[in-house]
Amino acid sequence: MHQTVNVELGERSYNVEIGPDLLAQSGARISPLLQRPKVAVVTDENVAALHLDALREGLNAAGVEMSALALPAGEATKSWPHFERTVEWLLAEKVERRDVVVALGGGVIGDLVGFAAAVLRRGVRFVQIPTSLLAQVDSSVGGKTGINAPQGKNLIGAFHQPSLVLADTSVLGTMTERDFLSGYGEVVKYGLLGDADFFEWLEANGSAVSSGDMASRVRAVTRSVQMKADIVARDETEQGDRALLNLGHTFCHALEAATGYSDRLLHGEGVAIGCALAFELSSRLGLCSQEDPSRVRAHLRAMGMKTDLTDIPGELPGAAPLVELMAQDKKVVDGQLRFILARGIGQAFVTADVPREAVFSVLEDALQTA
Ligand code: GLY
Repeated sequence: MHQTVNVELGERSYNVEIGPDLLAQSGARISPLLQRPKVAVVTDENVAALHLDALREGLNAAGVEMSALALPAGEATKSWPHFERTVEWLLAEKVERRDVVVALGGGVIGDLVGFAAAVLRRGVRFVQIPTSLLAQVDSSVGGKTGINAPQGKNLIGAFHQPSLVLADTSVLGTMTERDFLSGYGEVVKYGLLGDADFFEWLEANGSAVSSGDMASRVRAVTRSVQMKADIVARDETEQGDRALLNLGHTFCHALEAATGYSDRLLHGEGVAIGCALAFELSSRLGLCSQEDPSRVRAHLRAMGMKTDLTDIPGELPGAAPLVELMAQDKKVVDGQLRFILARGIGQAFVTADVPREAVFSVLEDALQTA
């Protein structure tokens, strides 16, 4: 059932291994990278309680020792103070240039530890062991690392590719349903942006994926990672095609800002709603058929996911302030709203040519549809 996806980046190419029980095999899989049988692991307290023993056993089985630092769980950890603590701990552990650092956790840990590895001794190698669906299909692959600044999310960071990613699909069984479905928002995004057959497969098999069928989970993660790997190989530093991965994200970022980056809206939930809105906008601009946004929304609904703006608890600002929040997104270039739109399911493209009035009217109608 195990799959391997290669991220093709010349000398910096690496494998993403996907399948059940990879923690148990971590020592055997990481050993080929090691100059000495020891790794420094950074994780968070929640993940440590669930998975650190399994990782230790997996490493020890191949004679690899580990030391571990467990940071507080949550987005607030992606900040200078915890970054400083991590770098100083790695130095205190005497991590050397040829050693390997392991990031065990979700997107927060992967981003922070990847950035620490990027700057420690001017760059040490690191291995991602993503433990959330979102991290397995998105943030652990592609080398974007960093922390948040008071001025905004992910404003401080570096491109630093991992040397190996171990996506253990067994650990997804410990996720809450809400967190799992939030990550599934990113899975759906891949079908919508570039693979209509995959979207069709998700329509038929999404419930098996969410209910824990392992073969379906492996297939969903593998296809998502393959698509990300292909895009990253074409455009590592987001000069062009990599922006396709931001389908749904312009709406999502505005909604996250409007809800104060709180528990009211998880990132993947915002991506799913954002994808539905991006297809609605595409349809109104005459780019895709009217059936496409309905089909997107039908699948999200069938999965029990947040689908519409009205599914977000609490008050939202009006359409005008939401458009204003979009205009502040860091992906805005020269004040132009940059969107990922679609000519159909699986046919997304990047454009800066979107009239604000069209965005406004999509949001205004979405806010009113109770
Ligand atoms: N999460 C978007 C990217 O990696 O480019």
